[in-house]
Parts: sequence; C-alpha cells; structure tokens
Amino acid sequence: MNEPLTLLGIESSCDDTAAAIVRGVPGKAEILSSVVFGQTDLHADFGGVVPEIAARAHAEKLDIVVEQCLSEANVSLSDLDGIAVTAGPGLIGGVLSGVMCAKGLAAATGLPLIGVNHLAGHALTPQLSHGLPFPYLMLLVSGGHCQFLLVEGPEDYRRLGGTIDDAPGEAFDKSARILGLSQPGGPAIERAARGGDASRFQLPRPLLDRDDCNMSFSGLKTAMLRARDGLVDAKGGLTRQDQNDLAAAFQSAIRDVLVEKTRRAVHMARSCRADLSRFAVAGGVASNMDIRAGLETISADLDLDFVAPPLALCTDNAAMIAYAGLLRHAGGEHDDMTLAARPRWPLDQRSPSLLGGGKKGAKA
Ligand code: KG4
Ligand code: ZN
Repeated sequence: MNEPLTLLGIESSCDDTAAAIVRGVPGKAEILSSVVFGQTDLHADFGGVVPEIAARAHAEKLDIVVEQCLSEANVSLSDLDGIAVTAGPGLIGGVLSGVMCAKGLAAATGLPLIGVNHLAGHALTPQLSHGLPFPYLMLLVSGGHCQFLLVEGPEDYRRLGGTIDDAPGEAFDKSARILGLSQPGGPAIERAARGGDASRFQLPRPLLDRDDCNMSFSGLKTAMLRARDGLVDAKGGLTRQDQNDLAAAFQSAIRDVLVEKTRRAVHMARSCRADLSRFAVAGGVASNMDIRAGLETISADLDLDFVAPPLALCTDNAAMIAYAGLLRHAGGEHDDMTLAARPRWPLDQRSPSLLGGGKKGAKA
C-alpha cells in the first residue's frame, strides 16, 4: 500500500472560491476539509456571472479560504505533499487568480505544483466519494458543461457526446428567470416543480430523433418563453400554479432527454467496452432529485451500478481538485512555474469541440 498523500486543492474557475484538504491514496481518499465561498449574491443583479467581478472576488477570498481549510483540517503547510489548482477550463480571470495563489504557495513552501482540469475534477468525484473503480461512464451535467465521458483512468477520457448549445444548468437558470423565480435557477425550479403538474404543458425533447448522445437545450428555453408569453397574453400574468406547472414540465423535459441520451451513451460505450458496468453523474444539475431518480431507473434497466455523489460534491468545490491532484501526484506528474491558466481545455483532446463559450465560460 502506498503512503497516504495530503493535497491542498484550490478552485476558482467560475463563481465559487474554494479550497480543500484531501488525504489518501488513489481509489481511497478522505476529505479533511472543504470550504466553498459562493458569489451568487455578487452577480444577482446582472443576470449571469460577470467575469471581472468574479475575478476580483476570487483574488480577495482565496487566501481566506486556503487558511480556513488548513485550520479546519488541522493541517499545516508543512504537512502537505502538493498543491493542486484548477488551471482551466473556465473564466480566465478567476482561473488566473487561483493559479497565481497556488504558485505563490508552491514557491514559498517548495511543494510540488499540480495543475488540474476542472472537468477532470468533476469526472473523478465518484471515485473520491464512493471509491468507484475505472472504467465508468460519466454524465457531467452542470451550469457550464454537459457531456458523456468514458472514464478509463485519471488521464484517460473519451467524450462520447455532449450538448451542442446550452448546458442544462444554464437552461435551468434562464428558465427560472423567465418564470420570475430566484437564482440559481436549478434549485428554484426543482422546488416549484414539486407543486406542479408536468403534463399541463408539452415542451420539446430536442434531438431524440438522432441516434447519438448529443443534446440541445436552447430550444427548450425558447419554448418556455413562448408558453409564458401565451399565459401573459391570455390572462395578464402567471399564477403560482402556472409557475409550478411550467417548472415541472421543464424539469421533466430535461430529465427525459438526459435519461434517453444516457441509454444511447451506454450503447456507444459498450461497443468499445462490452463489460461496462458502472455509471456516475456529477455537476450541479446532478443534485436534482427528479433527474437523479430518472438516471437511477435507467441504470437499473441497463444493468449498471449507479453512483451519484453527495450534493456538496456535485457542485463546484475544491475537494475534487485536490483528489484529481492526488492522482496526478501519485502518477509522478507535476507542473512547474510555467503552468498556464487555460480558458479552454477539452478533457478528450481527440474529439472535436462541440461548442462555443457559454455564460459560465468555455464548456469543453
Ligand atoms: O457544477 P456547478 O456548481 O457549476 C458549474 O460548473 O457550472 O453547477 C451549477 C449549475 C447551475 O446552473 C444551477 O442552476 C444548477 O447547477 N443546479 C441545479 C440544481 N442545483 C444546482 N439544476 C437543477 N436542479 C438542481 N437542484
Ligand atoms: Zn463545475
């Protein structure tokens, strides 16, 4: 058994400033502390994340979250084996703040510096939370990303498909705004949908006529806009029940698309990995209980073990970055002071990019 490693992780690629300490070996690690400082309030008036505001807030909060996570874990810098930091993809100002902070700490302590791909952090989370062994199929579904990945090792990802326009979290956020619900939109829609009738409005399930596992969510948001405007024209506004019914219709449309595309992704994955038996989900949208339930059912149908990490590890956090860094460190990989912040950084360099940048930064 290898000696356990203790890694500090730093995350600042979008609108959460986070630091965490993870200790363990590949396949079995423990989170000693995880601190997340969210910026939702700072961006609330602007209808999306404002990159300049995000970058400044990260620069102000990074030292504080690092100190706090060390103190909560009862660990000092001299107990660490390395410093892992998100080096992309994401909003470049925020990523730069994190990378500069990590470089400063590495220079001051002499500890190895390890650049981590944010998407790898999400994709490796089921192994951190549940010890899930490779290979597994992963659905990464958040505010900035949506892709099916065949994860064969810490540095071995094959992208089978993904969104060709908006990410589902983005669609949740925009649809919540259309309905006059609060941000972030995902939790607000999930709450409203509990009191709604999903069958009252018929919303599209885009790209289900195509055999691949690519997805499209921008048309759904347009359909929501039309449905809302229809109600406003007809009766001058939306009742609480209208809001709830539209939220339920929207949530079930997203769930149906993700479930059906999972079926196709499993089929594709099994054409090169016939023995595939594990499926995991990660990213903020994976905290939606209705979507989780749909994915759980399809996994049982397809004879797959299904893993959904705890909610706090689905949304952006630094424990996933520390763990991805631990795997790279254990594999003898490090970076030096030339480590660059990258706005775009596809996990699977072999597959062509599907998308442009989104409101939360580059998606692939
Ligand atoms: O992974 P994450 O924290 O950040 C990104 O990398 O994007 O995901 C944030 C996204 C937001 O768009 C938010 O609305 C969505 O995840 N989200 C949800 C839920 N909780 C968060 N979407 C649907 N249902 C939820 N319960
Ligand atoms: Zn993320």
